[in-house]
Amino acid sequence: MALDIEPLFTATPEFVTPRLVLRAYTAADLEALRAVNEDPEVTQYLPYSTWKTLEDAHAWQARLEKRAAAREGMQFAIRIQASGELLGTALLFGFNIDHEVAEIGYVIGRAHWGKGYVVEAMQPLIDFAFDRMGCHRLGAKLDVRNRASARVLEKLGFAYEGTARDDWFKDGVRSGTAFYGLLRHERLSGVVRDNG
Ligand SMILES: CC(C)(COP(=O)(O)OP(=O)(O)OC[C@H]1O[C@@H](n2cnc3c(N)ncnc32)[C@H](O)[C@@H]1OP(=O)(O)O)[C@@H](O)C(=O)NCCC(=O)NCCS
Repeated sequence: MALDIEPLFTATPEFVTPRLVLRAYTAADLEALRAVNEDPEVTQYLPYSTWKTLEDAHAWQARLEKRAAAREGMQFAIRIQASGELLGTALLFGFNIDHEVAEIGYVIGRAHWGKGYVVEAMQPLIDFAFDRMGCHRLGAKLDVRNRASARVLEKLGFAYEGTARDDWFKDGVRSGTAFYGLLRHERLSGVVRDNG
């Protein structure tokens, strides 16, 4: 069996959780997303620099659109269900069709940290990757200093698999990359749900 990414791009899935709604990201979300990515604390551990200008935002969007057109990734806007406020984005990418693997990523604005929103947002996306796309493994990579993100992955049932030391140099600081993974049978055996 191979990974089937078609449903991600053609079924335009919408995910509703108790507090949130996730819909495919559109250019109309960019303005709200600027507030998130113009905060250096948010982008500190991300693979792109803090947005300083409208051009930075447009450059990010251009990369995103290129990636979506090539079917290399799908970005979702995470919103509070009740108010419609945009919190940030959730990403499914890194598809390897033959090996049935994909990766996840996420970012939300600082005002919303510590409320369990990202775990809540990622759960249906993870379910979709395993159940609808036939994913065998989901991976996640993060700056080894990013303890909050590591905690999110632990709560989602991901296992820590090791660290590539000093493979990252950003803003004059060298750091490492921590690798996490979640296998389909781990989730089906209840690891995800029991770990929350
Ligand atoms: C990392 C991020 C996604 C976390 O999302 P969140 O919805 O705030 O996560 P949670 O509400 O589950 O809280 C984070 C957990 O990490 C813990 N935590 C936060 N900072 C921590 C730190 N410095 N050291 C250890 N644990 C920390 C919190 O106590 C909480 O754990 P708990 O639920 O067991 O108490 C969010 O902070 C974010 O978007 N950051 C900027 C972008 C980013 O780094 N994205 C990830 C790239 S890999």
